[in-house]
Amino acid sequence: MLKEILNRTNFSRDDLIFLMKLTNQNELNRLFESAYAVKTELLGRTAYYRGLLEFSNRCRKNCFYCGIRSGNNQIERFDMTKEEILNLANWAWRNQYGSLTLQSGERNDPTFIKFVDDLIISIKKLSCGQLGLTLCLGEQTDEVFKKWFDLGAHRYLLRIETSNPRLYRRFHPNNAVHSFKARLSRLKALKRIGYQLGTGVMIALPGQTEEDLVDDILFYEAVDADMIGMGPYVVHSDTPTGQEVLAAGRNTDQDRRERLILALKMIAITRLYLRNVNIAATTALQALDPFGRELGLKAGANILMPIITAEEHRPKYLLYENKPCVGDDQEKCRDCLTSRVRSIGEEVGFSQWGDSPHATSPYKATPKIDLDGINP
Ligand code: 5AD
Ligand code: SF4
Repeated sequence: MLKEILNRTNFSRDDLIFLMKLTNQNELNRLFESAYAVKTELLGRTAYYRGLLEFSNRCRKNCFYCGIRSGNNQIERFDMTKEEILNLANWAWRNQYGSLTLQSGERNDPTFIKFVDDLIISIKKLSCGQLGLTLCLGEQTDEVFKKWFDLGAHRYLLRIETSNPRLYRRFHPNNAVHSFKARLSRLKALKRIGYQLGTGVMIALPGQTEEDLVDDILFYEAVDADMIGMGPYVVHSDTPTGQEVLAAGRNTDQDRRERLILALKMIAITRLYLRNVNIAATTALQALDPFGRELGLKAGANILMPIITAEEHRPKYLLYENKPCVGDDQEKCRDCLTSRVRSIGEEVGFSQWGDSPHATSPYKATPKIDLDGINP
């Protein structure tokens, strides 16, 4: 049965569910090997870097799972200055990182928008337009998305977190600031404006089923995502979700191992199904296993996001616990990740943007699900 499914070029939803439910180690290895073969055939053995600059942990949202949620008053809030950010962007450019990702909590006040406008202009200028720029700054209006695109940001990462509206409601406060419908509309807007679109989900949330995860992959296809950034859910004990999981005794080594394996399956099945998109081996994988990111690359991911956030601010940008690289600086992260990539026989695509072939391909799939049919 597994062999038959892995040989298919067109997978049904049931095929994907079958793969998502695999547990036998030999079968899992065959799944990961198949996904790795698709990756190397279509994208080679090159991992691309997006230097991750987490420049502020202020956020207007209060997602139940996240350590920097506005309701968490146990953390010190910080904002990096424009000068600090530009120094790090310059470091990334001099170190031949093809791309930079600007990330922060979500804000939509005019001061913040203007600050980002200036950053995009300055980063493009300091790198003579060479540094590719991805934004991960939450939900914004059409106008703001358009302005940032026109200024030179060409990719945007906005996770749907879960494509199941019922689960979305469970992990977010029930109000207009945390609306599934609004999130969906923002994803469509980004695509319309012309960004290369990135989205993703958290994997192994309490109550999430294998079917939900398969539907997340079908959702990626329906929004025509070019890039996927997804990772396992990791507990943060100062959050409602974290406390719920801890109270239920569901954060044992075995639980964490299962979350890691589910995340790797999700990477592999997304690679088999969507084929030529960029998929990140995210830092959260490494929060669950010291070799989490290498395992992600071996399961079909092709993007890494070395953290370049200033060392002094890293302990304040903890979305979840056990986040790796918190005591490191950007030089250490570069050397460490590069040797991790080489350890599995791959190379780093220095000085290249590494856009996903999906983004430039004229071929468009016919999605299996209709976005308008998802009922919030
Ligand atoms: N575990 C894993 N990922 C998390 N994120 C936020 N909190 C957690 C957590 N506890 C992810 C969300 C968000 C991204 C920036 O970080 O998916 O979109
Ligand atoms: Fe803010 Fe993002 Fe954390 Fe939600 S997940 S609280 S939007 S930083």
